[in-house]
Amino acid sequence: MLKSKDLLGLKDCSAEEIYEILDTAAQMKNLLKSDCKQSDILRGKSLVTLFYENSTRTRSSFELAAKYLGASEVNISVATSSVQKGETLIDTGETLDAMQIDYIVIRHPMAGAPKLLAEHVKASVLNGGDGMHEHPTQALLDMLTIREAFGKINGLKVAILGDIKHSRVAMSNLFGLKKLGAEVYMYAPATMIPKELEKLGAHVCKSREEAIEGADAVMGLRIQLERQHGGLFPSLSEYSKFYGVNDALLKYAKKNAVVLHPGPVNRGVELTPQLIDGEKSLILEQVTNGVAVRMALLKLLAEYREANV
Ligand code: CP
Repeated sequence: MLKSKDLLGLKDCSAEEIYEILDTAAQMKNLLKSDCKQSDILRGKSLVTLFYENSTRTRSSFELAAKYLGASEVNISVATSSVQKGETLIDTGETLDAMQIDYIVIRHPMAGAPKLLAEHVKASVLNGGDGMHEHPTQALLDMLTIREAFGKINGLKVAILGDIKHSRVAMSNLFGLKKLGAEVYMYAPATMIPKELEKLGAHVCKSREEAIEGADAVMGLRIQLERQHGGLFPSLSEYSKFYGVNDALLKYAKKNAVVLHPGPVNRGVELTPQLIDGEKSLILEQVTNGVAVRMALLKLLAEYREANV
């Protein structure tokens, strides 16, 4: 049983809760891969997606997860909503609560916005990514993908390379992977490494080779041009040359290493097209697992609500 009505981040989730989500997601994946992707586990429930930033994977996979489990779902297009008339986040949340919504999935450029919303609504709030803070469902689907590849997470070496500083995916993966016993090695240009990263348990590396050496999983992170204000690296082509991952670098990893990326990928920048489309790439499996993880969370939060709310 989860311990909260909301999923705001992995920093505050226990290993037991993470395992419960992954185990439930593995069951949900069977339903997702079956001929009839339909269940009535969430019949009568309703979900709203409220995205203040763009998304393909997160938003659509939450919407599909709700549909497959029998819930109603609605997207609020922030660009054409009353947010544009100056409505506050809390007023928007209370308005949705008044409509008897069960789940609100929010993506917001401000770190902490999902928590603020969760404190003011009865609905379960799921963080679909908040600023540079956390993207918990992405890390959960990454962990499910890694566990499927190796049968475990404990004891693995995971290398994460790219724009660590602006990446909520990196933070959630660091919290989640460490709780399940993996070692996390990170590498980025000095301008893209946040201070205090080592205090959070990451191994901060001095080179790509050091990060990838002996790794079981190698994850590239997207260069987040929208969160940068310039000057962090000279150009995309130089980034690719000095900081990207290619076939030659992947040879430092274990023979059976896998390649991950949360997407969307800047092809040829963080990873070469050969790696993205190669046999070691699990990037599309991550997308499938994203639906399974979100189905699992909706089910588990429904159980929490039934027992506690
Ligand atoms: N990985 C991820 O969050 O993708 P979207 O921005 O497409 O949702």
